[in-house]
Amino acid sequence: MRVCVIGAGYVGLVTAAGLADFGNDVICVDINKSKIENLKKGIMPFFEPGLAELVNKNKSRLSFSGDISGSVKKSEIIIIAVGTPALAGGAPDMKNFWSAARVISQNLNDRKIIVVKSTVPPGTNKELSVRLAGWTGRDNFDVVSSPEILRQGSALKDFFNPNFIISGSNSAKAGKAVAALFRGSKIKKDKLIFTAPETAELIKYAVNTFLALKISYINELANLSESIGADISEVARIIGLDPRIGPLFLKAGVGFGGSCLPKDVKALLYLAASKGVATSVLASPLGSNKIQKQVAVKKLTRYLSSLKGKKIAVWGLSFKPGTDDMREAPSIDIIAALQRKGAKVIAYDPYACAKAKAILSGVQFSLTAYGALKNSDALLILTEWSEFENPDYDKMKKLMKRPLVIDGRNVLDPKAARRAGFEYEGIGRK
Ligand code: UGA
Repeated sequence: MRVCVIGAGYVGLVTAAGLADFGNDVICVDINKSKIENLKKGIMPFFEPGLAELVNKNKSRLSFSGDISGSVKKSEIIIIAVGTPALAGGAPDMKNFWSAARVISQNLNDRKIIVVKSTVPPGTNKELSVRLAGWTGRDNFDVVSSPEILRQGSALKDFFNPNFIISGSNSAKAGKAVAALFRGSKIKKDKLIFTAPETAELIKYAVNTFLALKISYINELANLSESIGADISEVARIIGLDPRIGPLFLKAGVGFGGSCLPKDVKALLYLAASKGVATSVLASPLGSNKIQKQVAVKKLTRYLSSLKGKKIAVWGLSFKPGTDDMREAPSIDIIAALQRKGAKVIAYDPYACAKAKAILSGVQFSLTAYGALKNSDALLILTEWSEFENPDYDKMKKLMKRPLVIDGRNVLDPKAARRAGFEYEGIGRK
């Protein structure tokens, strides 16, 4: 198929490269000219494991362009994958989505399928059909809702091995075409979900809000575990054996972040409020997460009594490992709280420092993990990068003023840390 993907963000770029890998001819377009120029040179706008290689491997079928109109005209399938970030009140900002729709409407030279990959409020696909018909006065298009469920850091794996592929359309023919497009050659038929657009749209919010709930649930239990001497890692492992609960997204830590979970919980609440639907459970992750982000700060204060003038080394800044993305990263609020209490922060992250520098002020950055530890009063781990797992404790001890570790992601082995002479505290475990 000839495919045009609008938006060269995480979803758009991974989708474009993946569809090219399936053998389609793909043009990925974006309004950001410098992003497109860099992509033409093979420079990715963000770090995602394996993406640069996949783009490079499919060079013959994947091109990048700033000419959205021309690219739409040339294509049979148009995929909208622009960002829909949260506005101040929680509603998603649909500005880029509707301007992409407008450009599509002006270039419907023959029959096309328009696929909505962007995360949008339920009802948007229907509204898109109505607006396109109004703008063009024609019906030479079909709209299919196919929200993306991939995670940053494992986006390629998720694209090629999805748990399900959603195809939400009022046109059975277009729905089937889109399912076939994303199925590639390997994915089993039973993973293809054909449904109504509104259901497809709600599934996306439902997944992310449930994940936010699951993480908040385990985080609150972790805090309780500490006060009764239980071990949350054990609790999570064992309750995860119950198939009604499942083992994933039960890792306690300093809170969830990223561009999706916080944004989609807010968008779902906004939608519910606009429909007059009462929410309590659905609203709970936001407050819970706010509290959780302060847990590590409280722990540090307990050990160091005052943080004034204390030097705190931070390992890990991105919202999770496998990405350099700093959007809504817990490190932002945690570091701000440390600074408000008078602490000096020196931070290290293997990939996110460049993006973090633009967001965090008053923070010193280290090029190495050990470099950050020099004369520090404590180490705080905020992202579970695998390189932090088995550190050289002797080296750390020589560098630090006080061998104290607050492990906000439970990456270290508590016994090994204590054996090495460290004061160690994780989240919800002994
Ligand atoms: C999330 C969803 O997992 C994807 O399915 C969805 O497609 C994506 O949003 C999206 O809407 O585009 P992502 O934001 O990449 O993916 O990251 P997650 O892996 O969900 O992690 C989110 C946050 O939760 C991270 O800060 C992570 O550290 C935290 N987390 C995750 C925990 O604290 N504990 C866990 O057990 C799992």
